[in-house]
Order: sequence, then C-alpha cells, then structure tokens
Amino acid sequence: MKKQFLFILLVLFSANAQTVQSPNKKLTISFFLTADSVPQYQLSFGKKAVVLPSRMGIALKNTPSFLSGFAVAKIESSLVNDSWDPVLGEVKTIRNNYRELKVTLQQPAEKNRVLVITFRLFDEGLGFRYEFPRQDNLNYFTVSDERTEFALTGDHKAFWIPGDFDTNEYPYSETRLSEVDASKEKHPGEIYTSSLITRSMVQTPVQMKSSDGLYINIFEAALVNYPAMCVDIDQKTFVLTSKLAADAVGNKAYLQAPAKTPWRTIIVSDKAADILSSKIILNLNEPSKFADVSWIKPVKYVGIWWEMHVGVASWNYSDVNNVKIGETDWKSLKPNGRHGATTARTKVYIDFAAKHGLDAVLVEGWNVGWEDWFGNWKENVFDFVTPYPDFDVAELQRYAKEKGVKLIMHHETSASVTNYERQLDTAYRFMKAYGYDAVKSGYVGKIIPRGEAHDGQWMVNHYIRAVTKAAEYKIMVNAHEPVRPTGLQRTYPNWLACEAARGNEFNAWSSGNPPDHETILPFTRFMGGPMDYTPGIFQIKMSYYDPNRQTQVHTTLAKQLALYVTMYSPLQMAADLPENYEAKLDAFQFIKDVAVDWDDTKILEAEPGDYVTTARKAKNKEDWFLGAITDENSRTATAPLNFLIPNQKYVATVYGDAADAHWQKNPMSYKIDSWLVNSKTILKLPLASGGGAAVRIKPASKDDEDKYKTYKQK
Ligand code: NOJ
Ligand code: CA
Repeated sequence: MKKQFLFILLVLFSANAQTVQSPNKKLTISFFLTADSVPQYQLSFGKKAVVLPSRMGIALKNTPSFLSGFAVAKIESSLVNDSWDPVLGEVKTIRNNYRELKVTLQQPAEKNRVLVITFRLFDEGLGFRYEFPRQDNLNYFTVSDERTEFALTGDHKAFWIPGDFDTNEYPYSETRLSEVDASKEKHPGEIYTSSLITRSMVQTPVQMKSSDGLYINIFEAALVNYPAMCVDIDQKTFVLTSKLAADAVGNKAYLQAPAKTPWRTIIVSDKAADILSSKIILNLNEPSKFADVSWIKPVKYVGIWWEMHVGVASWNYSDVNNVKIGETDWKSLKPNGRHGATTARTKVYIDFAAKHGLDAVLVEGWNVGWEDWFGNWKENVFDFVTPYPDFDVAELQRYAKEKGVKLIMHHETSASVTNYERQLDTAYRFMKAYGYDAVKSGYVGKIIPRGEAHDGQWMVNHYIRAVTKAAEYKIMVNAHEPVRPTGLQRTYPNWLACEAARGNEFNAWSSGNPPDHETILPFTRFMGGPMDYTPGIFQIKMSYYDPNRQTQVHTTLAKQLALYVTMYSPLQMAADLPENYEAKLDAFQFIKDVAVDWDDTKILEAEPGDYVTTARKAKNKEDWFLGAITDENSRTATAPLNFLIPNQKYVATVYGDAADAHWQKNPMSYKIDSWLVNSKTILKLPLASGGGAAVRIKPASKDDEDKYKTYKQK
C-alpha cells in the first residue's frame, strides 16, 4: 500500500516562497528566505494562520553558524501514503500520509556549506528537522543554540509546566502566554532536582488554544543524540523560541556530519479530540530496530511499591545511614522491621497476581543500598545484584514460576548513571539468570556525570543505550525520571513506558495532582508515548494508614478505573495494596478485565483541563472499554456507541461515581450497573466533581440477554 511520488523542482537560488499543502489540503506551509537570507516558514489551518513567518537556524560554536547567508540550492517534494502496524499500540494499523518538502540550502560565503531542512506536512500537523549531510566543509561541530521560532498569532491559552531540564514532575498551569510565570518562587519545590531557569520558559509538549478556536500543540519527535527542547515565550510578541538543555560545560550538542536534529512538531486542529488521535509523533520516528519482537508483551502488574509511598513499609532494610557497596556486611545490620521487599511479602503479591490473572509483580527495595540512596550524590549507590538478607531471589524465582507470574526487577540508579552503565551487562545477566524479563529503572537525583542534565544529549543517549542493551537480553524497560518520550517506543518497542511526568505517587505524599491533571496529561506528556502513571488507587485517603497524613488522591475511585482507558500504556499497574483490592473485589473486576493493548481507539469528547472520554477496542477481541474523566466540575459524559457492530447486543457494565460521590468529600462512593446496549445506544455517564466512569462492553451471551435489562436512553 505504498504510494510515493517524487517531484524535483530545481529552483536554483530562488528566494520565492515554496508552498505545499497537506494531503487533504487543510494545512498549508510556506518556506522562504528573507531579504537578508534567513530561512523562514509559516503554517496555516484552512484560512487561519497558526504560525506566522518564523525563523529557523542553528548556532554553532567556534564555526560560522547556520543562521543566515543562505541560498536555496534545491527543492524536492514528495507524497507518502503508507501504513504500518505497531508492536503494541492504541490502534492496529497506523496510516502515514504526508507531503514532504526537502529544502537544500547553501551558504555561498562559507564554501557552499549545506544545510537541509525537511518538512513533513500531515493532515493534522507539521514536522520539520534540520539535516547536516556529509560534506567537505563540515565534519565535527558543536551546537551552541537552536533558533527555531514558532511565531503564534496571539496571546493563546496555554497548558504548561515550567522549563526545567532535570524534572517534569510538575502540576500543570493553565494561563495565557503573557501570564506564564515559570520562575522558581512560583513553583516551590517538592521536586528535589528542580532547576528552573526563567520566568518565560516552559516545557514541551505545550498545549495551547487560540481565541479563534484552534488547538495547537508544539513538541518534538525522535529525540536521539540531541538535547530535549523547551520553548521560551516572548510575552509581548508571542514568539516561542527553542531552548536546548546544556551539558556540563554549557554546550548543547556534539554532532558529526551526516547528522540530523529531532523533528519539531506542530499539531493543530479545531477539535481537541484530533490532537489526541494524531499519530504524527510516531510516524516521524524510525521503524523498529529489532527484527524479532515476539518477546515484547503488554504487562498488567502489581507491586511492592505503594506501601512505601504511603509510609507503611520502607525500601531500606535497616535504619543506618553510612552503608557502602562492597564493604557493608548487610547481614550484620539491624533490620528496621518495616522492610517491604521480603520473601514473604513478595509471595503475597505473587499469590494475588496469580489469583486474579495479572501478569507480573514489581518489587522495589530488594537490593542493598537504600539506607542512604537519597540526596548524597554518591558514585556507587547500588550494585543491582545483591539482594537484602530477607529477599530470597532464587526461592522467589521458583515460586513465581510455579504460580505462572513474572517478577519485574527494579533498578533505581539514584542518577549515578556512570555507575549504572558500568554494571548494565552484569545487572541484565543477573535478571535473566533469575527469570526476569522486565525492569523498572529510575533516575532520582542529580545526574552523575556531574553537571549533566536529565534532558541533555549525554542522558538522551544513555536512555537509548540502556534500552538497546536491554533488548540484547530480551528485557522490556519502564524508565522513571527520564527525558519525556518522543515516540521512540516505535523504534525501541521494548521501551514499554516511561514516567517523565507527575505520576499518581504525588498523591501519596505531596499536595498532589489537582483534579484537572489527568485531563491535561493526554494533551502533553502522553503525546510522546505511554506513561507508567500507576492508576487504580482504591484507598483514596492516606489518613487510613496514618492519622497524621492528610494527603489524598485527588480523584474518585471510579475515576481511578477510568484512567486505565483514558491513559494509554501497554504497561499498566494496579497500584494499590492487595488488601485494598480484596476489600472491593466488585470494582477490582474492571482492572482484571481491562485490556492494555488495542485494535482501535476513539476519542469521543475532549477538552484540555476539563474532560476526556475515550473508547478502545481490545486487541483481537470484540470487547470495548470506555473511560470518561472530568476535572473538579461534575458533568455528564456522552458516549455514542456507534462503533459497535450493528444489530449485535452487548452488555455494558458501568463502574461509575455514585450520586453522592465527590473527589474530596466522598471519593470512594461508586456504583456498578450492567445493561444491554447496541450500536444505537448513547450512554450518558454522570461524573462527580473529580470523578469518572469506566465501562466494559462485551458481546452479550444468551444468558446475558435474559439477565440484563436494556439501557434506557436518556
Ligand atoms: C521515583 C519513582 O517514580 C518511584 O516510582 C519509585 O518508587 C521511587 N523513585 C524509588 O525508586
Ligand atoms: Ca518519579
């Protein structure tokens, strides 16, 4: 199904604008050189301008820059219309349909040095990147800055987190561009690594809404061998300019021709739902690097994890604080009596997973070193192969195998990344020897090598080195505290998920995630790929564990269920304690049933900061799952089921907020109802303040037809 046309328009040294349209002609871009030979582009949606003429270019160190002095040497245009199937995904097949414009620029005054700018214009947006072909007059070079501009048409509403190259674990703000204030004082720190830079710099993806009704999302795709991009907002002109993470000596990227930057992306529509269904980011990434992907599987898991976050167990085995890998005699330490990762406790989780058909059990705090892991900026914090005395790795391998459950390894690097790299092979070999095929890695803290940033070129390459090495061992990866994903799960499909945003854990021990948080994440963090958000908390109030803990999850219980559908990830945790699930097995049934890999996805309604309603069809099944969530405002979600097979009866089981539910006042009040539905049904789902609804829809059996009543259309 591959169609490709290539037109070569040899427009030698022309300064005229080159204009192309997206396949359905909705989007138009123009490229031109200004009178002083600076490259510029602009983008429009129908008759509406999205990006006004904006400059492009790269500043180099100790070498003349690629900023001006250009002539157009060649222009090529082609149309691509093909499709591909992701290994795991939201849909079975992804259509890749765009018009490409490749502009070859020369700098006559610099011995005709060449820079290529490639644009790909899809029906839902634009991607462009800089390419540095192999050439006589450019070999090694250092990027000191990127000057890509996005000149917006006005003071748009924006959903943003502060520009920070070491953490993205912030709550979102919703303000006009002119009102953005990302300065440190305005974002007092719960986040240890926070390194806020200026008032006007925000992270990408940044989601905006213009007063003429356009939803505009600025981001990047295929971040490889280059630092991550934030944007700095000119708060008077609304021109956004790229800002790259610097390394320890202030440089941005070290490249050798041939080289290319990641894609800069602008996704645009007059419907918010279209932003969420766009596949631009994935389409701009390279296909899978691995020929054999049969070992890559979706995972639903539980773990010894939340009990540490709520404070009833500890990662550390002993309460001393001067341990040393290779020297401390761990058996001689006095156990603190709260250690979570014991053999006995792990068996409780294995039994629970086996009983309820979950795939795997994550165990954090199994390896020595947690006594002083946090905040000391040590070189060798963990060795990834030495279990604590009360964690019997061989016995647990035997037990898990007997029960048909997988164990997930945990590698907290404590951001001592050189230490981790030295040990990667040893660590992965150890995992394989004990039957593990998935790892959760973590990068809490300030990076070693010192002076590097989580989002800088060195670390961007590290995450990829780790997943590539993991693939050699057929290991799947879930990285916490990495740079935010940019669609690389297409290229490295064993990179199942990342954290890279403020996850549910913040609800356990901080001011938490405001009720609109999960309605913004799909428009921001999830644009780049799956997140290990860790939903499914049933015990919403932390005072349950300790009367002095006043923190709580900022949703209703039903909304926790809906998140399994509104947040796409092929790796989903049932994050609460087994005991809390055993107490509410009727609601837990949804977590047992919900799929994590899909044939199809429909975004039924969405508005950033307000609500999202999503329906997904389970992979290779006729079952559908639906999730509807709202912010602090109660509302009724409307879900037409016209995606169901006509004339077929289904049972819809709705796990919804009870009439008296409220995220703060009464979060655990839910009710479960089942009805017969069909493709003509329009479900009306009442959502409480901070609430949600989760629905399982499966073809009705004869018994079901007798048992359930037909849904009364409201
Ligand atoms: C932060 C991670 O996000 C969390 O999931 C983990 O439990 C802790 N670090 C400890 O590694
Ligand atoms: Ca985290």
